[in-house]
Amino acid sequence: MTFTIAIDGPAAAGKGTLSRKLAEAYGFHHLDTGLTYRATAKALLDGGLPLDDETVAANVARNLDLSRLDRAVLSSHGIGEAASKVAVMPAVRRSLVEAQRAFAQKEPGTVLDGRDIGTVVCPAADVKLFVTASADVRARRRHDEILASGGSADYDAIYDDIKRRDERDMARADSPLKPADDAHLLDTSEMSIEAAFQRAKSIVDAAL
Ligand code: C5P
Repeated sequence: MTFTIAIDGPAAAGKGTLSRKLAEAYGFHHLDTGLTYRATAKALLDGGLPLDDETVAANVARNLDLSRLDRAVLSSHGIGEAASKVAVMPAVRRSLVEAQRAFAQKEPGTVLDGRDIGTVVCPAADVKLFVTASADVRARRRHDEILASGGSADYDAIYDDIKRRDERDMARADSPLKPADDAHLLDTSEMSIEAAFQRAKSIVDAAL
């Protein structure tokens, strides 16, 4: 029997770092499901295909190779924005959720992070975490990250972008972003990533 950790939350809440650290600590496989939506959007953009044709987009999603998702080429703001448009289409979600569920079966355990892991993809996950932080804190973290990597960043634009993406993710009819009833809430607004990791680890340890 495999062990599944489901981590959900809005953009830039720290769930990616937390998921990677948890996967490393327990020797589990990790899937950032946001990358599956991003890869679908990028394939459409690269092919000059529309972002809002459900049949075309679902076809692209069905043919995605999960073992070849490259964070480096999928991380841009523009692709994140396009991903959240592609993610509203039920046929796209059905294809990607099927692949995500297959991934979740891997032994000895898995960590999946996204928006609907605890509610839709893995409703029977052994541990569910909902990671949040205020929009201001998330925008500031993104901003500082970009500056630290030598880029230039406009705080107000990043803040607006985060608010817009939150709204689209929470308002969509299919699999909106919301905590599962049995999720542990982790607000990282005033927490270091190390403190959030220790808290998450104690929750997982209690369930192992
Ligand atoms: O987490 P990330 O920013 O990479 O996700 C990009 C977009 O993909 C999100 O804004 C969201 O619309 C979509 N997504 C989703 N369900 C998931 C993961 C991501 O709808 N499980």
